[in-house]
Amino acid sequence: MRLRDHVVVVTGASSGIGRATAEAFARKGCAVVLAARREEALEATAQECGKHRGARTLVVPTDTTDVGAVEELAARAVREFGRIDVWVNNAAVNAFGRFEDVPIEDFRKVLDVNVMGYVYGARAALPVMRAQGRGTLINISSVAGAVAQPYSHPYSMSKHAVQGLGSSLRQQLRVEGVKGIHVCTVMPATIDTPHFEQAANFTGRRVLAMPPVYSPERVAHAVVDLVRHPRREVVVGPAGKALVRQARRSPAVAERAMARQTDKTHLSHDEAAPATHGALHVPASGEGAVHGGWGGRRRTALRRTATVALVGAGVAAAGRRIGRTA
Ligand SMILES: NC(=O)c1ccc[n+]([C@@H]2O[C@H](COP(=O)([O-])OP(=O)(O)OC[C@H]3O[C@@H](n4cnc5c(N)ncnc54)[C@H](OP(=O)(O)O)[C@@H]3O)[C@@H](O)[C@H]2O)c1
Repeated sequence: MRLRDHVVVVTGASSGIGRATAEAFARKGCAVVLAARREEALEATAQECGKHRGARTLVVPTDTTDVGAVEELAARAVREFGRIDVWVNNAAVNAFGRFEDVPIEDFRKVLDVNVMGYVYGARAALPVMRAQGRGTLINISSVAGAVAQPYSHPYSMSKHAVQGLGSSLRQQLRVEGVKGIHVCTVMPATIDTPHFEQAANFTGRRVLAMPPVYSPERVAHAVVDLVRHPRREVVVGPAGKALVRQARRSPAVAERAMARQTDKTHLSHDEAAPATHGALHVPASGEGAVHGGWGGRRRTALRRTATVALVGAGVAAAGRRIGRTA
């Protein structure tokens, strides 16, 4: 089946990676079904998508924590386009703060959106794919699904759960002998999106995008590529790849590097920030955007420095191990 005949559902399509992904599929000529809470922002995404090869679009305002709404999203996609070839579970939120400082309703909300929202998506998409005998479920996780971070406990927990969801689903399909359905997990490093501005924050410090920062288009490209060449897990961004490799080789070193980097560069040391629930319970206003304004040349320079620092930490640790065993 040609990619341009695919029907693709994207959750979190009103902003950031979801929006870039919807546009990337539209550019290939796919029909895209756009879901998130903000209708106005979804319409803006649809307008962008429609510019590419006249891609067909369907806007379905959806709160992914509402199981009935997610089932209706799948039903609308099938009613409109007859099938679902790709389902991208992407909608997620974040809450920053010391473990004891994040209000429990915010903690629970992050897990609801980032874990149960993905479960509802998978349960809505898989029956359609089973009936078709084919399909690709793509779960957007994070490098935080391999190496947890301080100050974002529910987020790190949720992304570890997404890794587990992908792995257990692949195994279930395997033991059932299902060959045409693929489950892929994408683990982006830091990406230039509005994510950080929309997060809940109880640290008292402004949340910054932790360098190095990569573009949402890079993630979108990786997602589209998975439909043609399905893989279990894909890390996006060289610094993310270095960190995940290091975590597999030497988890304690990776944990130490992540703790240091997060405290040093993810939270501002100069700018205070008032406590906020961000867009967890009520969506942000406005039309949404693909980018968060964290890109640019300064970040590119920082990207090189940070990648060198991460790789350097790994090399130093390996050196110490060799020293100990010599
Ligand atoms: N940015 C990064 O550095 C980064 C790194 C690694 C992984 N990721 C992952 O990439 C994915 C996309 O993140 P992003 O950076 O693009 O963030 P973003 O710009 O904040 O987009 C998040 C999307 O989720 C939607 N959303 C939030 N709560 C929702 C709910 N209850 N129901 C439906 N939709 C909801 C938002 O739309 P509405 O507000 O309109 O509902 C928005 O479209 C997430 O899974 C994130 O964890 C991001």
